Amino acid sequence: MLKAYTKPTPVSKAITRTGTEETIRGWIHRKRTVGGKIFITVRDRTGVVQCVVDKSVIGEKLWSVLDKAYLESSLLLRGVVKKDDRAPNGVEMEASDVLLVHSGEQFPITEYQSAEFLLDVRHLWLRSQRMISAMKARSYLFRYLREFLDKQSFYEITPPIITVSGGETGANLFKLEYFDRKAYLTESSQLYAEAMIYSLEKVYSFAPSFRAEKSRTVKHLAEYWHLEPEMAYFNNATNMKLQEKLVSSVANRMAKENDGILKFFNVDPESLLRIKPPFKRISYDSAIELLQQKGSTKKWGEDFGVDEERLLTEDEDKPIFVYNMPKELKAFYMPINPKDPRTVLCADMLAPHGHGEIIGGSEREWRLEPLLERMKEMKMNIDNYKWYLDLRRYGSVPHAGFGLGVERILKWMLNLDHIRDAIPFPRMINRLVP
Ligand code: 4AD
Ligand code: MG
Repeated sequence: MLKAYTKPTPVSKAITRTGTEETIRGWIHRKRTVGGKIFITVRDRTGVVQCVVDKSVIGEKLWSVLDKAYLESSLLLRGVVKKDDRAPNGVEMEASDVLLVHSGEQFPITEYQSAEFLLDVRHLWLRSQRMISAMKARSYLFRYLREFLDKQSFYEITPPIITVSGGETGANLFKLEYFDRKAYLTESSQLYAEAMIYSLEKVYSFAPSFRAEKSRTVKHLAEYWHLEPEMAYFNNATNMKLQEKLVSSVANRMAKENDGILKFFNVDPESLLRIKPPFKRISYDSAIELLQQKGSTKKWGEDFGVDEERLLTEDEDKPIFVYNMPKELKAFYMPINPKDPRTVLCADMLAPHGHGEIIGGSEREWRLEPLLERMKEMKMNIDNYKWYLDLRRYGSVPHAGFGLGVERILKWMLNLDHIRDAIPFPRMINRLVP
């Protein structure tokens, strides 16, 4: 007799063991009844397998319970694995015993549902093959990113999520009540990562960042996962080198270790295996020239939007860097470029084929006076940054760092139309539930 806690064989393993009796545990992915037989496709986290339940084997009572079971019912099934060319992956299980754990109610998701409805029932849509594949890739991506940095002797640090001020856009902060004070959800952990290089030298924080983005685009989330490495004695050049190594490493591992997932999204693993250093580096000045050659009306000093990012990367197979942007477009902590004081020492990494900015990074102004000057120029509230300025008072060192948007990377690698499928429960301007 099957019991709920009987140890199952993963479906992906069971389908290789023809001729033996196996127990699998999962959910009813598909089901149809033909005569005295019920064909059930059982799904677990490793795959799906077709099973056939015969009334004459299983008995009238169990058969009719199963016949009424809804899609997504949970069950254990025991049976012999047999070769069958008609079955989806070439094998079929002939059930000798079934334990229906929970049949529940009719599953609300049927074929051909609108994208909005699937977002409303996101908690259930996560069981789809599409979301299963995307969420596995996401988990692997987290692992690859961490393992790369751990191998490079970084320490992982944990920043606060509640802060009194921003460091980036400022305008896009989420406000919250903090006892009797005003506070904000962090938009970047960089300033805290900077504080920790004075003790740990090479650090990264891996945490959510929050942006009250009013723009409805396919690449903006209000809450996203942000990997932010920060390194003592790095400059713009060594910063870019580290970024291209990191991105190449995770792209290559994604290609080598996840053939099935990439196939599901119609991504050729070769396209990710080709991602190798060095990446093209173009200055903001030449990017503007290139854009104008391509017919864009963008003028020097203007920021890039979706169209410009697409124009710049449409012919690229690898990500590119655009470096030294106008200071007006960038945050207060970026140092002025001594060779052209209209610009700052920074670089953005753009994904190929118009997937947009995946990394923003820069050197940090590490000298107190020029930093203060820049903050005054930008009319910032210096009081909020007293502690940050202290970092420039005691044993300051040159340093640099960057921020990588995990969902942006995944959107690019899996060639997703929309960033929302790169995160289980997306937060966007019109989406807070589930
Ligand atoms: O370019 P950003 O704003 O840079 C920073 O926050 C720096 N403090 C990072 C650092 O140097 N430590 O954001 C960095 C990256 C972007 O390149 C993008 O990949 C991602 O974060 N990002 C978003 N991802 C999803 N939704 C959004 N609304 C995002 N905003 C930025
Ligand atoms: Mg940026």
